[in-house]
Amino acid sequence: MKILITGGTGYIGSHTAVELIKDGHEVVIVDDLSNSFEDVIDKIKTITNVLVPFHKIDCKNYDLLDKLFKEENFDGIIHFAGFKAVGESTKEPLKYYENNLLSTINLAKLMEKYDVSHFIFSSSATVYGDQPSPLSEKSPLMETTNPYGETKKMCERILNDYAKNRSDKTIVLLRYFNPIGAHKSGLLGEIPQGTPNNLMPYITQVASKKRDKLFIFGNDYDTVDGTGVRDYIHVVDLAKGHLAALNKANKGCSVYNLGTGVGISVLELVETFKKINKIDIPYEIVARRAGDIATVYASSEKAFKELNWETSLSVEDMVRDSWNFEKNIE
Ligand code: UD1
Repeated sequence: MKILITGGTGYIGSHTAVELIKDGHEVVIVDDLSNSFEDVIDKIKTITNVLVPFHKIDCKNYDLLDKLFKEENFDGIIHFAGFKAVGESTKEPLKYYENNLLSTINLAKLMEKYDVSHFIFSSSATVYGDQPSPLSEKSPLMETTNPYGETKKMCERILNDYAKNRSDKTIVLLRYFNPIGAHKSGLLGEIPQGTPNNLMPYITQVASKKRDKLFIFGNDYDTVDGTGVRDYIHVVDLAKGHLAALNKANKGCSVYNLGTGVGISVLELVETFKKINKIDIPYEIVARRAGDIATVYASSEKAFKELNWETSLSVEDMVRDSWNFEKNIE
């Protein structure tokens, strides 16, 4: 199939481009480069031997997208392009609502106009809010603590409502748990701008001595060791979840969790990183971060049963590949 990947030079988008190409799909990438670099296209070529057509377009710009859809005959859209910094979204909510909602609406309108059959949307486990894990797709959607999370819920709702009248379309909402890791080549990975908000990029920057120590947000949660528990998933396994959704999802709107089904604590992740990479990670326990939840992990049985997808990479693979990528950043 010919697939448009929006946000395709970003962390998850670039890994998904590689997996789609390896499976024989034709890929076109759109990105506004607000949080990624164009040289990712060369890196995808080094890995796959395919030079992916790239267009620098902001998905808020309907007219530029319309021109591209007219020229290309897309079979599917995988929509990653979006703002994702939770803290920033509370300070600049309008920027988040405008960007994340408008880009999704533009793409859905173009899906309709150009009769595109597949739409896969990047959602997040954040839509479940604070409720007991394991979280299944049947768990209710809850209030999130920030505008970023609300944009994910709203986009899901928009696509779900659209699908109700278009039973010929395949629309898939993928709820990611905590993606970490990097491509084993060391060419693709996560490059955060400024101070990392998420745990793994912070750990790798401490490992490379860009930062003195890790601040662990709270050790008084009701968990195995008091630190927060999350379901970390290797970004390559996550990328393969998109391929499975593209190849196997049924018509209509469906929702899948993409996680491993196993939760581990901040301290467990730090200890695994230290052991596998043989590097010390100094840390300090500080106060809880506002909006954080004690425990979040998936039930990923639905994706296993219906998409025949399961994760194959371990936490050891994740910490090794994350560090291997960080070492390659100059
Ligand atoms: C965060 C977002 C979530 C978003 C996801 C994207 C919040 C509240 N949630 O999830 O909405 O979908 O990123 O990947 O921001 N931690 C530390 N020190 C750090 C960083 C994190 O101790 O410097 C801890 C956190 O308290 C948490 C765990 O590490 O227990 C994971 O944090 P993080 O990587 O930011 O992911 P989430 O909070 O799960």
